[in-house]
Amino acid sequence: MRIALYQPDIPQNTGTILRLGACLGVEIDIIEPAGFSLSDKALKRAGLDYIDHLKMQRHESFAAFDTWRAQAGRRLVLLTTAAQQSYAEAAFRPDDILLLGRESAGVPPEVHARADLRIKVPMRAGLRSLNVAVAAAMVIGEALRQTGQLPAGA
Ligand SMILES: C[S@@+](CC[C@H](N)C(=O)[O-])C[C@H]1O[C@@H](n2cnc3c(N)ncnc32)[C@H](O)[C@@H]1O
Repeated sequence: MRIALYQPDIPQNTGTILRLGACLGVEIDIIEPAGFSLSDKALKRAGLDYIDHLKMQRHESFAAFDTWRAQAGRRLVLLTTAAQQSYAEAAFRPDDILLLGRESAGVPPEVHARADLRIKVPMRAGLRSLNVAVAAAMVIGEALRQTGQLPAGA
């Protein structure tokens, strides 16, 4: 299981997701261009020293990421408020890649179209979206639970 971030633009959110990945043993993909440098102080402050315990891969574009993913035969699961299906009703696979959109704009239609599965975290009517790191945490928790990949823990 991996988490991929599409052109993230808020370093604190990316730092929080890097920390999440380190703690849960989930590798992170960053699809460039990001709206900040990966040496950004705010990212490091949010990720703390957990970043040293993480496997992270950077991809120079969505096309490069998608070629790599398709060659690896891994499913692309897009988290989007525009999905019909709730994440709670999805059947996850152990090698799924969960893709999260950019904070300011989500993902463009061509990326939306490339996803094998689109899922949402259902919300109360009239509210726009969750913070990207919160959405990531809710869905990766369920995906790891379903596939028996939650860390054994201390
Ligand atoms: C702040 S939201 C993006 C909002 C953006 N204005 C849009 O139209 O997509 C950032 C990302 O968090 C994820 N996200 C936030 N709330 C979600 C929800 N309820 N269900 C699924 N994904 C969600 C999506 O991946 C989204 O692209």
